[in-house]
Amino acid sequence: MKKLKAKFKLKTSASVKRLSKRSSKSGAPLVPRIAVAIMAAGKGTRLKSQIPKVLHEVGGRPVLEHVIRAAARVVPANDVFAIIGHEAERVRTAMQHARVNFVVQAEQRGTGHALMVAREALSRYDHVIVLSGDAPMISVSTIEGMRDFHLQQGAAMTLLSAELENPTGYGRVLRKSPRSPEVRAIIEEKAASAAQKRIREINSGFYVFDVKQLYGNIGKLSTDNPHAEYYLTDMAEVFRENGKPVVAWPTRTPNEVLGGNTRAELVDIDQQMRLAKCRQLMSDGVTIFYPATCVIDAEVEIAPDTIIEPYVQLLGETKIGSGCRIRSYSVIRDCEIAGNVMVRPGCVMEKAKIGPGAIIGPYSHLRPETDIAEGAHVGNFVETKKIKLGKGSKANHLTYLGDSEIGAGVNIGAGTITCNYDGVHKHKTIIGDDVFIGSDSTLVAPLRIGKGAYVGAASCITIDVPEDALAIARGRQFVKEGWARKKREERAKR
Ligand code: UD1
Ligand code: CA
Repeated sequence: MKKLKAKFKLKTSASVKRLSKRSSKSGAPLVPRIAVAIMAAGKGTRLKSQIPKVLHEVGGRPVLEHVIRAAARVVPANDVFAIIGHEAERVRTAMQHARVNFVVQAEQRGTGHALMVAREALSRYDHVIVLSGDAPMISVSTIEGMRDFHLQQGAAMTLLSAELENPTGYGRVLRKSPRSPEVRAIIEEKAASAAQKRIREINSGFYVFDVKQLYGNIGKLSTDNPHAEYYLTDMAEVFRENGKPVVAWPTRTPNEVLGGNTRAELVDIDQQMRLAKCRQLMSDGVTIFYPATCVIDAEVEIAPDTIIEPYVQLLGETKIGSGCRIRSYSVIRDCEIAGNVMVRPGCVMEKAKIGPGAIIGPYSHLRPETDIAEGAHVGNFVETKKIKLGKGSKANHLTYLGDSEIGAGVNIGAGTITCNYDGVHKHKTIIGDDVFIGSDSTLVAPLRIGKGAYVGAASCITIDVPEDALAIARGRQFVKEGWARKKREERAKR
């Protein structure tokens, strides 16, 4: 949470400070008060989903969270207003940790209506940056660029535009003349003529408004369109008719404005984010073979000279040191992995800590609160939960270790099971340094096995074992000489 808060910290750019000094001469406030409103109330009909559109995940987190994070790096989180409506409580709960404000648009009557509903919340600001809650790739620098252009131009409305290869579905920007920054109108796809549909400059759905101008004129919007909605885009025409300047600022990174309106668009955005993450890691010195097959979340950190093989998922807040190799088909979430660790194929790991030089897998399942020390080995079909495995210790085959503290230099034989659960409570197993546990032993907790002790194979240990002792707890072996031969001879006579 601390980390998240730091991310949402205010970053006032030099350009705003410069601008505000200039505007002080004209009597305007020294520092313009700027809010960010994020439109996130829509249902997302095109997704055919029970989950609200803005909570669908791309790049490992909800679409809306990406937009909120960007917003909260442009203004302080308490100047960010998410306009929610469809499944409002669900969206609010999912985004609570971001500590932004919420405005509820109970009935969704269009993007213009979303801003009407936010009037009271925004009235104490001079300008409002409006973002689309369904376009998660927008960057801080693009938002800042649009804001600065708006302030320089002294516009009533500034919109971010983009040249797209395929503009289908987007609103088109009608400029006053081809090279003029001024905009005549925004025309939605449905209302566009064949000639207008050929315009490749689209409206991104990101804007900056002068708050006084916006609310002085928003009442002029009508619902005279195919959806009978209040379109925020119509403000361009409203302003023009009232002699207020409307300008467009074209982005040089058009990918940032892509919206996730359909499953295919969401998957495309996810892929772009994942590839961008892989490229970043590779430029930081990490080798990722077949990056298109790897799923790496935004927060994951990997040090140089680590190799990620194909079909690996690194999720959540996973951190990996240098010189590691993460082999194929491992799914690793929220783990802390030190340097020179080898994760062999097919491991599933969550909230585990792995010390330097450890070897994990193939096919190990490390569950939360697993702490593996330097140089330790955990092998195939070994499950661990809430354990410490000491330096250089080994649990290489077919074992369950739960609620245990295991010292250094310990050998856990194949098939060893800690019986940590009595059906009601969990109990602890404590194993000292240099202990040898023979194969197929069951260790019934609560239990202590002292330093240097031995447990004979196939023992069921229920009583503490002192240091340096040998414990054997299994049926004694009988040998009946000639028994098998006699049996065979009897059978032959019949
Ligand atoms: C909108 C623009 C279009 C632009 C495109 C860019 C309008 C009329 N059109 O179209 O010009 O090219 O974005 O992506 O604005 N929302 C609300 N309340 C509502 C309706 C929508 O909060 O009553 C939210 C949605 O949740 C969404 C955003 O506003 O996050 C945009 O709405 P959406 O319906 O996706 O608009 P587009 O059809 O994409
Ligand atoms: Ca959209």
